[in-house]
Amino acid sequence: MPDKQRVAILISGRGSNMMALVEMAEAYEVVLVASDKPDAAGVAWAEARGLRTFALSPRGIGKVAYEAALDAALRAAGTKTIALAGYMRLLSDDFVAKWRGRIVNIHPSLLPKYKGLDTHARAIAAGDAVAGCSVHVVTEELDGGTVLGRAEVPILPGDDADALAARVLIAEHALYPRILAEFVQR
Ligand code: GRF
Repeated sequence: MPDKQRVAILISGRGSNMMALVEMAEAYEVVLVASDKPDAAGVAWAEARGLRTFALSPRGIGKVAYEAALDAALRAAGTKTIALAGYMRLLSDDFVAKWRGRIVNIHPSLLPKYKGLDTHARAIAAGDAVAGCSVHVVTEELDGGTVLGRAEVPILPGDDADALAARVLIAEHALYPRILAEFVQR
């Protein structure tokens, strides 16, 4: 049995997708949880689990220095694949180029529909019957890389964005670990 692939997870907030990835880690090993927000709830959770963490805000030091420090932490942890999980910052083209084909993201829409923010409100406003989530490879184009997998969720009468987001989130927690496992074993 070859060594499990070493995965780092990048978060900015509560980190529920990160937690799902950690809980379901069989095909891969989570070697680092990194956050651009030092007080993100997910960082404390990861620390309490004994996971290696890296928390640094770009505020004050600038994007170039921040990404250099992040890159160094990722490499020090032996990262092979980066999983973005509610990471709310755009990675620079330089950073994406350094990790080309090795960064994945979860996005709360059925890509290619609704790239960017406010996906649930936009799906409801459009009168869609179905929403969902997608895991995709990260490229320089926002939410634009190859889609690796999607899960559909019904939009129900009376749904507002929060109700739909909560339903989609449950699907995210099932989809992301499954697709990441496939991705590292491809
Ligand atoms: C998720 O809906 C994810 O798809 C989006 O941001 C949210 C993050 O939630 N990119 P969490 O931090 O994983 O709980």
